[in-house]
Amino acid sequence: MKKGMTRREWINRSATLFGGSLLGAVTGVKSINAATINSLSNKPVRMMLNENPYGPSQIARRAMRKAFGESNLYSMRGAKAEFKELMAKLNGVTPAHIAVGFGSGEILKKSALMNGIDKGELLSPSLTFETINRYAKTMKSNVKRIPMKNDIGIDLNRMNENINRRTKMIYLCNPNNPTGMLMNTDDLESFCLQVSSKAILFVDEAYHEYVTDPNYRSMIDLVKSGKNVIVSRTASKVHGLAGLRVGFAISTPQIVKRLESYLTDSLNIVGLRAAIASYQDKRFQTHSVDMNNKAKKVVADYLDTKGIQYLDSQTNFMFIKTDIDISDFQPAMEKYGVLVGRPFPPFTNWCRLSMAKPEQMQKFNDGFGKVLS
Ligand SMILES: Cc1ncc(COP(=O)(O)O)c(C=O)c1O
Repeated sequence: MKKGMTRREWINRSATLFGGSLLGAVTGVKSINAATINSLSNKPVRMMLNENPYGPSQIARRAMRKAFGESNLYSMRGAKAEFKELMAKLNGVTPAHIAVGFGSGEILKKSALMNGIDKGELLSPSLTFETINRYAKTMKSNVKRIPMKNDIGIDLNRMNENINRRTKMIYLCNPNNPTGMLMNTDDLESFCLQVSSKAILFVDEAYHEYVTDPNYRSMIDLVKSGKNVIVSRTASKVHGLAGLRVGFAISTPQIVKRLESYLTDSLNIVGLRAAIASYQDKRFQTHSVDMNNKAKKVVADYLDTKGIQYLDSQTNFMFIKTDIDISDFQPAMEKYGVLVGRPFPPFTNWCRLSMAKPEQMQKFNDGFGKVLS
């Protein structure tokens, strides 16, 4: 302690210096000052990657801090087994039905790899999440894109008509990204039942936890009855753990075994412990979904007053027909402190808007109002 300083002054000064140098170590900023604090609080709001603005939960954070102490050990094998047990229990299957990936992105890519090794063609809607399509092309597979229906829904009849001898995998994202829309569950189920003897059905349920439609059912029941179906889920969305990369597949033990032989096993103990804690934290999940619904309402109410079209979203994002080219809309909104989603051609006068906290959504409404005027 410096001479002439009270104990309180010394503690405050040390805390400032320590905080400043810690922040410096993390961000590269030499010292913290008012301008820095200001610029941090004026950061544009992220409404572009379908993240959870509340994550990770306090319980997940505690589990992560505890996991730091395990980081010198190869303890992720045990944690992976624990995670599988938990996912099996929560979904009414056995651990042999679960494959854990480095995010569900890895599950998508390794499924495309499997399809490529089998020299299969992939069938996929023309407007959907692109990871599996891109990776299938990397694997030199033909990817047949099926146009959307007039309401921008997935056209299952047309998908059915386009199945041929070479089709070995069909990708369906439910709810779909970027539309946020669900397929009719009965239609989807009968489609899967009809075609799963000809090809593997990959049903991407990344946004499963956000769905509020009472008629929705996961396709996990088809896995339970032994059908050729892969359902993927992720800890990146409602659990708010996108940066930790934990996702998983639920499929038949045969498909899981094959998928696992391709996975890179790049899981880490902090991510796994966080996911194990978060999937048991029902309060956080409910809170995230409630806040997401409130955020969507803030935007929907505004769009309704303006007569602007948007789709019925069962996810944490909305697809909005702004009637402004997204290449103009994106930078214009950034000027008003809002980062919106990328272009989804050919829907270039639409914008995919991810939900932030309800109180932040006014910033989008205000910015949009200014862009419109
Ligand atoms: C439909 C869909 N599937 C999968 C993913 C990949 O998520 P992750 O790899 O983080 O699990 C995303 C991410 O945005 C997505 O929107």
